[in-house]
Amino acid sequence: MSTFPKNFLWGGATAANQCEGAYNVDGRGLSTVDVIPFGPDRMKVSRGQMKMLACDEEHRYPAHEAVDLYHHYKEDIALFAEMGFKVYRFSIAWTRILPNGDDAVPNEAGLAFYDSLIDECRKYGIEPLITICHFDTPIALIKKYGGWKDRRMIDAYLHYCEVIFDRYKGRVHYWLTFNEINMLLHMPFMGAGVLFEEGENELEVKYRAAHYEIVASARAVKLAHEMMSDAMMGCMLAAGQYYPFTCRPDDVYTAMEADRDNYFFIDAQARGEYPVWAWKRMERAGITLDCTADDLAVMKEGTVDFISFSYYASRAASADPETVKKYRKPGNAAIMSLKNPYLDASEWGWQIDPLGLRITMNTLYDRYRKPLFIVENGLGAVDTVEADGSIHDPYRIDYLRAHIEAMGKAISQDGLPLLGYTMWGPIDLVSASTGEMKKRYGFIYVDKDNDGNGTLTRRRKDSFYWYKKVIASNGEDLD
Ligand code: BG6
Repeated sequence: MSTFPKNFLWGGATAANQCEGAYNVDGRGLSTVDVIPFGPDRMKVSRGQMKMLACDEEHRYPAHEAVDLYHHYKEDIALFAEMGFKVYRFSIAWTRILPNGDDAVPNEAGLAFYDSLIDECRKYGIEPLITICHFDTPIALIKKYGGWKDRRMIDAYLHYCEVIFDRYKGRVHYWLTFNEINMLLHMPFMGAGVLFEEGENELEVKYRAAHYEIVASARAVKLAHEMMSDAMMGCMLAAGQYYPFTCRPDDVYTAMEADRDNYFFIDAQARGEYPVWAWKRMERAGITLDCTADDLAVMKEGTVDFISFSYYASRAASADPETVKKYRKPGNAAIMSLKNPYLDASEWGWQIDPLGLRITMNTLYDRYRKPLFIVENGLGAVDTVEADGSIHDPYRIDYLRAHIEAMGKAISQDGLPLLGYTMWGPIDLVSASTGEMKKRYGFIYVDKDNDGNGTLTRRRKDSFYWYKKVIASNGEDLD
C-alpha cells in the first residue's frame, strides 16, 4: 500500500509579484506589492506604519523585475514539467487584468498572458491552481476606497473574479480566494491595502477589513460554483500551531487564544459563521463589525470546498511577560512567536518542526472536516554556485524530506485526506518578508542578487533531481 493517493497533486507554488516582474508592462497597473521597498522600511510599509502609495527614488523595489517569469514562463514551466509537476500554484496579478482594480473593460494583454500560462501548464498535464489575490490590492482602489477598509471593495473583487472565472473556466479547477487571509491582522497594508488614520481604532479597522474579505471570499465561492460546475474553491491560512511555552494553564490558554487569531478566518470560511468567542472578543475590544444579515447569509452559502494552508514553522506562546521578553524572536517575523528551545532554526530564524506540520494538519482536519491542501512549505536558505555551475543544497532536501515524511504519516497513520503539496518557490524568487533574493527556496536557481544584478539564467540545484525522484515514486523514494 503506498502512502500517497494515486492522483496526489505534487508541485510548487509562486506569487505573481514575487516572480513575474514586468510590473509596468502591457498595461499592468500598480498594486501594493509594487510599492513595498527593499530594506529597513519594508516591514513598516507592509504593516501600514509608513505610507507609500507610489515608488520613489530613494528606495528599490525588487518586485519590479523579480525573476522575470513574465518573459521566461515557457522555460520555467518546462523545468517544472521536467520535475514531473502535477500542479502549479500561481497567482493572477489583479492589476494585469484590471489596472485600476475595477475597470469596466479588462486589459486584454493581461488576460492573454494568463491564457498562455495556463495553456503552457496544461500542455504538460500540469493542473493550474490559482490564487486570486496574493497580497496585491490595486493602488487605485486604495486611493478610491482606502483598500479593504471599505465595503465597496467586495464588488470590485467580485467583478475581478467574474472576469477571470469567465475567461479561464474549463481550464482551471482549483482556486484560492485570498492568500494567507489571516496575514491582514499582522501586515495590514500588504494583506489588505490598509493604512491607518490618526486616532483610528486599528484593531477595529483590521477586523472590518477582515469581514469584507471574508464576505468577498464567500461570494466568490458562490459565484465560482454557479459559473463552473467543476470548481474546487479553497481558503488559505498562514498556519502553524501555537504551542504553550510550558504546561502552565495560563500558557495553554494564551496559546489557544493566539491560534484563535488565525482560525477566526478559517472558521468563517469553512463553517460559514463566526465562532461565538469571536463576537465576545470583538465586543470587549470595542469593535463594531459592519455586518449585515445578508453578509451572514452569504457566508453560510459560500463555504469553501477545501482547506489550504502554508506551513513553515510551529509557533510558541507564553502568558509570562518575562518569558516573552527573553524568548521573543528578534527581527521582522510577520507573526509573533517565541523561540522554541527544542527546535533548530533556518538562517532567517524560522524554526524547523516537521512534526508541527502533522500536528497542524490534524488540528485543521479535526476542526473543519474538509480535505486539506498544503500550498506552501519550504526552506529559505543561502545557496552557493560551484565553479562548475552545480548547486548543492542538502539542507533544503533534508527540510523537505522531513516535512513530506510528516505529511505522509498524517495520511497513512492519521487517515487525513490531503489533496496535494505545492512546495513554496520551486524557482528562486523575491522574499515577501525581506525583499531579498538571497533567501532562496527554489529547486531552480536564478542568477540574480540582492542588488538586482545577474543574468537571470536558470540552473538546476541538487534538490531539483531529488524532487523529480520524489514525484516519480509518488512520495515513496525520499532518499
Ligand atoms: C508566505 C507567503 O507568507 O510565505 C509567500 O504566502 C512568502 O508570499 C512565503 O514568500 C515565504 O516567506 P518569505 O518571507 O521567506 O518570502
